[in-house]
Amino acid sequence: MALDAATQAEIDSLRRSLEHHNYCYHVLDAPEVPDAEYDRLFQRLQALEAQYPEAVSPDSPTWRVGAAPSEAFSPAPHAVPMLSLNNAFTDEDVEAFDRRVREATGADIVAYAVEPKFDGLAVSLTYEAGVLVRGATRGDGSTGEDVTANLRTVRSIPLRLPAAGVPPVLEVRGEVLMTRREFERLNAGQRLRDERLFANPRNAAAGALRQLDPRVTADRRLSFFAYGIGDATVLPEGLDRHSAIMDWLARLRFPVSPERAVATGLAGLLDYYRGVGARRGSLPYEIDGVVYKVDELRKQEQLGFVSRAPRFAIAHKYPPEEEMTEVLGIEVQVGRTGALTPVARLHPVFVGGVTVTNATLHNEDEVRRKDVRVGDTVVVRRAGDVIPEVLRVVPDAARARGPVFELPERCPVCGSAAIREEGEAVRRCVGGLFCQAQRKQALLHFASRRAMDIEGLGERLVDQLVDREMVRTPADLYALDAARLSRLDRMGERSAANLLAAIQQSRNTTLARFVFALGIRNVGEATARDLARHFGDLAPLRAAGLEQLMAVPDVGPVVAQSILDFFSQPHNGEVIDALRQHVSWPVEAPVAAAAPLAGLTFVLTGTLPGLSRDQARAMIEAQGGKVAGSVSARTHFVVAGAEAGSKLEKARSLGLKIIDEGALLQMLGTDDPDRQHDRENA
Ligand code: IVH
Repeated sequence: MALDAATQAEIDSLRRSLEHHNYCYHVLDAPEVPDAEYDRLFQRLQALEAQYPEAVSPDSPTWRVGAAPSEAFSPAPHAVPMLSLNNAFTDEDVEAFDRRVREATGADIVAYAVEPKFDGLAVSLTYEAGVLVRGATRGDGSTGEDVTANLRTVRSIPLRLPAAGVPPVLEVRGEVLMTRREFERLNAGQRLRDERLFANPRNAAAGALRQLDPRVTADRRLSFFAYGIGDATVLPEGLDRHSAIMDWLARLRFPVSPERAVATGLAGLLDYYRGVGARRGSLPYEIDGVVYKVDELRKQEQLGFVSRAPRFAIAHKYPPEEEMTEVLGIEVQVGRTGALTPVARLHPVFVGGVTVTNATLHNEDEVRRKDVRVGDTVVVRRAGDVIPEVLRVVPDAARARGPVFELPERCPVCGSAAIREEGEAVRRCVGGLFCQAQRKQALLHFASRRAMDIEGLGERLVDQLVDREMVRTPADLYALDAARLSRLDRMGERSAANLLAAIQQSRNTTLARFVFALGIRNVGEATARDLARHFGDLAPLRAAGLEQLMAVPDVGPVVAQSILDFFSQPHNGEVIDALRQHVSWPVEAPVAAAAPLAGLTFVLTGTLPGLSRDQARAMIEAQGGKVAGSVSARTHFVVAGAEAGSKLEKARSLGLKIIDEGALLQMLGTDDPDRQHDRENA
């Protein structure tokens, strides 16, 4: 089919858009659209160029991968071009890849070196006689930018290699990235200084790498992972597999991914993809897929390259965590503590593996900073189990925008004043339990699994119970009966009976759960447990003064004041008195100072050889000790196991006592974890 004017116009427009997005992404480090949208435009252009060869032109964005080197850095030509990878999006794509590999090599089943696809920037590190002499970005694949001074600031990049067995010239390739934690730290600083926030770790890393002042780069604490080699003179004998090269690089002290593995056949690849996918959100850095590389180098050579990508490797991508959609409305939700949260109602969009219809806008300052309005096209992010958020607005001059959004000064639910205290980011309704929204949230919290665990008392039911004024406080739950429940929508006999049974069951609880269920500000599950153990019963807790509360390990002045404030409210006293008619718990002797570990705070870190975290915690607590989540000057002992990380470092820097599992068991008077284990499972 001949190229018509309309198609030519579409091609021109796609090229203009892609160039614009390229510029925003690679030069400004400030993308307007999510990667998924860029990929779609790119693929559409690729498809049109394939269909109409007469439209192909060397200035098309499909011809260049990445941006031109900036003038500030000198050009760094690559002796061996830095290529890109083809992508697989579905299991079928991977199946086809594995089939092509098997057909081209004649193998029945193929071993693949598999590793994460880091979401950072490709760099090349050249070592001469074991010394880092050049570090370069990828640039357009044949020429990058010389960023040696900046790469030298990356702590994990070796400046000098161990003397033995290193070839005269060695080029190592890998990815520079910013960990999530570093990204949070960087943006927190930007926020404090009222400066522009970085869109994601990748862009923050790109910005840091292209700093003209290497001191700024050093400040950004970039990370590096090696994933292969480029130019090299003679390699040591026996390096005939990619996995062997990676092991060798690890021995040369290059950081390599701890997630790397060797997988066999299609099933092995897909297993790896799902396994890493399940842990994706908890990795310390972002990844956008995994990479499969034929492990045997001889087979890699057999397969060779097609245009700009190797035939022996492929990137299997995860669903994008960012997508675009339209803001249909902005609503204000009132939380349990009265916090007003602006929430964007969205045109449904599939992102991070689920369909998202609402995304948080966090608070007033965030909405103002991002200037999100009804009618805007926005980028939405949903990573792992984190609640979806609106990242930014996609500028569109042609589109009519709603008015600037402002949080109301009165609670949208109860009409009480909504006040933002000095130095606080959130505006709060002062209505307390007079406010239906807060009452509903308080009830939901009271019934939640880790509190009173009343199964079946969900949002829809609580809405009805509160709206019809059948329930005002948690104590009213215990007065519900089948006849009254039957009047509710969608409440059959069976569900009414189940709900009543769950309410009955919650009557016997523990003091810790009850204290947590009250929803005292700043009192989470762990603090509730500490309070219960320390006071043994509710009466002494209610009667405690500031000093006595602060005697509880890890309870500081803020938490103590929250507890005092809560119990001093007459309304709360009434609700508690009413609840006491229905709910009971075993009273325990307050932890006496005589308990062997009383007054001692432990922190567990790393993997212990014989005990799970929960077991160790239970054993310490059984003897009156306390287990805290983070290391502080108040920590008495840090129990460290294998692969203990930052907590151990902090413990060392604070000069705390660090013990292993054996020493812990000795303190506990048990030195055989198996025996303890058996006892617990008996
Ligand atoms: S191998 C011949 N391995 O993905 C291909 N690349 O699309 C050499 N990347 O520019 C690349 N993690 O920046 C390889 N484990 C990994 C990777 C990886 C991330 C990036 C790299 C490259 C791009 C290719």
